[in-house]
Amino acid sequence: MDVKAVISEVLQRIRPTEEERAFVKELMDELGEIAERIIDELGLEAKPYFVGSLAKDTYLAGDHDVDLFLAFPLETPLEELREKGLELGKVIAERLDSYEIAYAEHPYVRASYKGVGVDLVPCYDVKNWRDVRTAVDRSILHTRWVNEHIKGKNDEVRLLKRFLKGIKAYGSEVYVRGFSGYLAEILVIKYGSFLDVLRNADFMLRQKIIDPENWLRKEPEIAMKTVRREVEEDRPLIVIDPVDPRRNVSANLSWEKYGVFYFKSEGFLKEPSIEFFFPPVATPGDYADELRRKGTHLLTILFDRPELVDDVLLPQLEKSARGIETALEREGFRVFGRNYGYSDKKAFIMLEVDRLERPAVKIHPGPEFFTERGRDFYRKNERVWLVGKRLYAEKKVTENVLDILSSLLEKNQVSLGKNLREVVKNADFLVDYVPGELGGEAYLFLSRKKDSLKG
Ligand code: UTP
Ligand code: MN
Repeated sequence: MDVKAVISEVLQRIRPTEEERAFVKELMDELGEIAERIIDELGLEAKPYFVGSLAKDTYLAGDHDVDLFLAFPLETPLEELREKGLELGKVIAERLDSYEIAYAEHPYVRASYKGVGVDLVPCYDVKNWRDVRTAVDRSILHTRWVNEHIKGKNDEVRLLKRFLKGIKAYGSEVYVRGFSGYLAEILVIKYGSFLDVLRNADFMLRQKIIDPENWLRKEPEIAMKTVRREVEEDRPLIVIDPVDPRRNVSANLSWEKYGVFYFKSEGFLKEPSIEFFFPPVATPGDYADELRRKGTHLLTILFDRPELVDDVLLPQLEKSARGIETALEREGFRVFGRNYGYSDKKAFIMLEVDRLERPAVKIHPGPEFFTERGRDFYRKNERVWLVGKRLYAEKKVTENVLDILSSLLEKNQVSLGKNLREVVKNADFLVDYVPGELGGEAYLFLSRKKDSLKG
């Protein structure tokens, strides 16, 4: 297929229909009215603002969650903003279908109305970046900036967002560290179109700094400070926020996700296909074959999925997987890869290791023999000898990887996510075997298809 045909086919699938637009518009009108009426009734001074992709008309068809921000005057003390903002969110949500409280920098209400998620987020009514006080305050400024600059390129943004989703590089959440929607919007505005963003993937990296609002000229000191800080942090890209010279919009973008975008952009331009946007579900093979072929082993830690939101659970799973890897490496095993995730009821951590057993002894280098510590070492060890003036001893150690891991966990010598310590200790430990529902996952992990840059 040529690139035009691919793009037009993708657009048909991601552009909201007139029907969806009408539904969304009516929903927003209705929510706006409810919010204003309740603010009035409560005698508050807040103002409702729609932000996010709905307010910018850059949402993908079928993916139209509402971000309704409740902006309080700058004079409001932070404590009061928290309290009254949450209260206001709750009263509004009472008129909708259902809601729960969610926690970010400050608590907010996640409601549901007519099958659509509605976030009710308290913030400050900021006029410019100097007013910004909480992490969510910029969203109102972002929305305004994008709407002023997008100039009808909304579908180009949709294409880029869908492309990034297809290649698994979309989302600025800590457990994704990919491109945010706002970053996609800025890139389209800067380079002009979806294809032009892809054509510039390489240039972007060499150039590194993107500064659409010329902050480096308008506020050189502040903007340079941002650049220096982000260079120091070794970010793949520095995009000075058009609404705030102190912030790098791509501060959360990892090298891995940028790298995926880099290779996939080139791949798409060379050979356009709809599969970049909508990848086919990988057909898993047999993980046991994969283990035999590689001569490695699979260690799986399986436990009941704790009731935590993704923002909490996934980083903790990652931390735990890393902690186990470090502990095993310290004990002399080589870890070739780690993986984690969850299904409906279960969560798991997988590690690919070089072997299941190690020798039953370990050589311990000791101190010099004529020192206090040396004499101590000599007394404490059975099999002890000298190499030059240094003492050495042979010590008996546990051989089996599972025994080693259990004993390390027992002694709290593995760094784990804080809410996972207990569940991991009481987990099932599986070797070279996973239950049926994890077979596909194990295969994708061991074959490296899970985050392969090719195919
Ligand atoms: P969302 O993550 O919901 O993005 O953040 P979005 O633009 O609405 O895109 P989709 O379609 O839902 O994926 C809402 C707003 O929060 C701010 C932006 O202003 C964004 O428009 N935000 C969010 C950031 O500035 N940076 C982030 O990393 C995340
Ligand atoms: Mn959104």
